[in-house]
Amino acid sequence: MVKYAILGFGVVGRGLAEVMADQREKLAAAAGEDMELGYILVRHDYPAGPFQDKLIRDFSLIENDPSVAVVAEVIGGTDAAYEYSRRALMAGKSVVSSNKQLVAEHGAELAALAREHGVSYLFEGSVGGGIPLLRPLCRCLAANRIDEICGILNGTTNYILTAMAQKGQAYADALKTAQQLGYAEADPTADVEGIDACRKTAILADLAFGVNVDPADIPTRGITAVAPADLELAQALDGAVKLLGRAARAGEAVCAFVEPHFIPQGHILASVNGVMNGCAIRGSAVGEVVLCGPGAGSHPTASAVAADVADAVRHRADPMIPDLGAPGGRLLPADELCSRWYVRAQCGPEAVSAAFPGAEPVYGSTGECGFVTAAMLDRRQLEKKLAAVNGRAAYRVLA
Ligand SMILES: NC(=O)c1ccc[n+]([C@@H]2O[C@H](COP(=O)([O-])OP(=O)(O)OC[C@H]3O[C@@H](n4cnc5c(N)ncnc54)[C@H](OP(=O)(O)O)[C@@H]3O)[C@@H](O)[C@H]2O)c1
Repeated sequence: MVKYAILGFGVVGRGLAEVMADQREKLAAAAGEDMELGYILVRHDYPAGPFQDKLIRDFSLIENDPSVAVVAEVIGGTDAAYEYSRRALMAGKSVVSSNKQLVAEHGAELAALAREHGVSYLFEGSVGGGIPLLRPLCRCLAANRIDEICGILNGTTNYILTAMAQKGQAYADALKTAQQLGYAEADPTADVEGIDACRKTAILADLAFGVNVDPADIPTRGITAVAPADLELAQALDGAVKLLGRAARAGEAVCAFVEPHFIPQGHILASVNGVMNGCAIRGSAVGEVVLCGPGAGSHPTASAVAADVADAVRHRADPMIPDLGAPGGRLLPADELCSRWYVRAQCGPEAVSAAFPGAEPVYGSTGECGFVTAAMLDRRQLEKKLAAVNGRAAYRVLA
């Protein structure tokens, strides 16, 4: 019998305590021994509940208890979460986390600390919530050179874009509904500006390409400028607009970026709707694999974190530490990637054919048109032509 501790008793922390209790026997089989909840670290009082006797406020009780083998950090942010993760690892305890900001910004350093102290550092819940994504990428696809990963990695923005497309809602109205349903925070900046997707893209790039990418270096554009007309025109062009995080191999370098894309209906990601997430991985042997599922939520995320707790216990003699890569990798500017483009413009069909020969515009209810260009090597080439058609928006087309 070993003990585990939970840091933070919010959406994921409470879900983790519940899932670990509900599936205690199954998880014990996965871990190879029974696991008991030792402590839940909190910073204020909670109304009486089933885990009341586990709540503590002093981290040193966890740090100094030799029977605690695993610490689940589900606090979020990089302040207390970083400090407690370091102290737990230095005390010889495995750490598991759903905190993408911490993993994206300090994961390589924490992984090195785990290596030094012979313990595991796992973070399956940090990308894709409940979708098994990082383990398949690192282990099940070990026989592949990964060429590209691209995903709908943020449920809030996917909910908003789906509501705009399916209900014809304006951005502000869709955001308000997302907040009322608990899908978006009161301050939605990290989601709608693409920051959350950027952190997850950085983690995926680290694991796929062995280069530790600084999320601050990933060009990131969110969904605040996506207009209802884009969703309407995309549908008329047999596609959908989605926010994608992409990371691709480009020779010796890596190209990573987050921005809205036009996805043709033929691609599975075009039909990943609402709060669902989906991630396509292109490998040299397997081709394209797409993993879809709930990218957030209390029990879905706890499902991933609980499995990490069990794996960390099972691997006490042989720690699991995914390789987040070496720092200093070069990120190639996304502008140099060859892409077709979806364009929304205000002009007649003649102007479209003059600037973009072969493009076939469709017209929407605002009088604007949408069309898809031929492949272009350089974004600057596109920018020059956009002026000729009074271009209002341009999104890459997912090939
Ligand atoms: N929610 C999801 O669906 C989801 C999905 C995937 C990943 N994640 C990630 O999982 C992490 C947790 O998310 P969450 O949604 O569970 O957040 P949350 O509901 O805000 O829970 C975080 C909890 O940590 C507590 N906390 C903060 N600082 C603390 C400290 N110094 N000591 C003890 N407790 C402290 C907070 O207490 P207070 O109540 O006092 O603020 C809160 O109860 C984040 O990194 C998030 O990005 C969440």
